[in-house]
Amino acid sequence: MSNESLVSSGEANEHGYRPFTLGGFHFDRDEHFVHITWPTGRHEAAIEPFLKALMRDVAWNFFYGTVNFDAVIGTLNHYGNVDLFAGRFNQAYREAELDHTENFPHDEIKATFEAMLGDWVNESFDPFAAPQETGSAYGLKSGANTAAVTRTRIAANRMVGLPDDEPLRSDESGYPVNRMFADVDQTEPHVEVVPGFESEVSAFNFFAYLSRSDVTWNPSVVSVCRDSLFCPTTEEFILPIIHGNDRVEWFVQLSDEIVWEVEDRDTGKPRAKVIMKAGDCAAMPADIRHQGFSPKRSMLLVWENNSSELPGQIARGEAPVVPVRF
Ligand code: PHB
Ligand code: FE
Repeated sequence: MSNESLVSSGEANEHGYRPFTLGGFHFDRDEHFVHITWPTGRHEAAIEPFLKALMRDVAWNFFYGTVNFDAVIGTLNHYGNVDLFAGRFNQAYREAELDHTENFPHDEIKATFEAMLGDWVNESFDPFAAPQETGSAYGLKSGANTAAVTRTRIAANRMVGLPDDEPLRSDESGYPVNRMFADVDQTEPHVEVVPGFESEVSAFNFFAYLSRSDVTWNPSVVSVCRDSLFCPTTEEFILPIIHGNDRVEWFVQLSDEIVWEVEDRDTGKPRAKVIMKAGDCAAMPADIRHQGFSPKRSMLLVWENNSSELPGQIARGEAPVVPVRF
């Protein structure tokens, strides 16, 4: 079955945008807002933050655990199928019994979200770009930005620096040094390799590598060692989702500063404000949700444990929600 045939969508409305349906959820957009309805309620959100959240949910394949678009709408990844919910991680909605969840096969919800991005993102808007590096998301339908909305995260073929690595390494690659990282030293380390080991030993300037990232809040994968994923990213403005973790993850702040708002994953009750300055390292517990604020473009290393066993072990109490107990 082609992706297109999975998508339930109607004719364009008076603003030029097609509506979309997923089970009991209905999505419509106008010049400023997305209007979402479900059997027990409705929700309106500004279209720009909505599209930025939707873009990440699609590009990351629903990510680890929960992707809250805002305090009401979001997805919960069961790795193969995905819950779409309203008010599920919002204590007031739950107490009022207004929350609603439906489960969809991964391919069905992904195809619908992709089609929504394809139709609702105008030519001038790039949902991955920093606010000052993109045009507006608002207004009547005007073209499309297929290149931007079909972008996926860059993953290295091998350890970066070895022959066959991914391309984000030079001006010729089409990735110029970002305006915010003009002061980052671009000198590459000099490595003298014993003959015969040229394809196995290398080093590269990690800061120079990251200074060429043209997107924000989109971790790439630069090294994979079994389930250990090193995912560096450049951040500017606000993480467009509120991420509910289903495992512990580590943050190493490589430059500048990010302020994290950390809340209880299920209720949204505030738990901590973490101010991370260059060189700081933090572990985010498996029972929280968090959103980052980066006043200036900064470099962050996200270290993920990709083991598919972890969410179940944590849910059953067999693995702790924090990496260390003091
Ligand atoms: C996270 O939710 O942990 C996260 C997501 C995207 C980023 C950084 C952190 O760019
Ligand atoms: Fe997270």
